[in-house]
Amino acid sequence: MSNYKHGLAFRYIQGTKYHRDQPLKDDLGSIPVVGAFKRYPESERLPLPKPDLNRPANLWQCLANRRSERSTTSDLLSLNELATLLWAAQGVSARAGIHLLRTAPSAGALYPFETYIYVDHVEDISKGFYHFDVEAFALERLKEGEFSKEMTAACLSQPAVRRAAVVFIWTAMMLRCMVKYRNRAVRYIPMDLGHVCQNVQLASTAMGLGSCPIGAFFDDDINRLLEIDGEDETVLYLITVGKL
Ligand SMILES: Cc1cc2nc3c(=O)[nH]c(=O)nc-3n(C[C@H](O)[C@H](O)[C@H](O)COP(=O)(O)O)c2cc1C
Repeated sequence: MSNYKHGLAFRYIQGTKYHRDQPLKDDLGSIPVVGAFKRYPESERLPLPKPDLNRPANLWQCLANRRSERSTTSDLLSLNELATLLWAAQGVSARAGIHLLRTAPSAGALYPFETYIYVDHVEDISKGFYHFDVEAFALERLKEGEFSKEMTAACLSQPAVRRAAVVFIWTAMMLRCMVKYRNRAVRYIPMDLGHVCQNVQLASTAMGLGSCPIGAFFDDDINRLLEIDGEDETVLYLITVGKL
């Protein structure tokens, strides 16, 4: 007898449906409010160059040509290309009251995720992990060094990760979204990140770079590399980028 309807996936979707005249109920109690931006005040900051938004690109051609590319080369990505990819991911494009609106939509304008990168071969930036400061359009250096082996092992030994010039890593900031949407937040966070990742992939296509979204990884290995708790903040999605 099949049991799938009693599994977590079905119970989650059924338990987080909106129904007319029936408010979503839960037993979560009060949820702590967390900041809209994570900050690393002790880290060295690297301002990013302004992205070149006048690069020619045709949206329809980018949509037609977008592909997941796993065989990128050891050629260096330029700092400007990296800055452009970060801007595509989470560039601030408008303000609405307290909200800094970005290049990708987000349920309730909460942006319940953080962007980190593992830099392997990018011009003018040493190898290591960085956190992206959306507000300041800057990087915060978390740790310097070669972690390609650890990143690849954490991603089930996928060669795309070993070859990448840079790996974008997105974590879910659970409470930032749960404060408003409670358990339903877990529907929205991956949707938000799907938009962000698609922006990076289309921007990669527009610049002639190769990229591959990565959903297969040992969560806690990546969480440990980022030194995050794996609960309130936990890794959700990655994308590799490099030259073709
Ligand atoms: C949520 C998600 C997770 C994915 N995870 C991986 C992955 O771990 N490794 C991989 O090689 N490709 C991964 N991919 C890429 C898909 O395999 C790819 O999008 C699919 O084969 C269609 O090919 P295309 O993107 O070139 O159109 C993932 C894609 C998505 C959307």
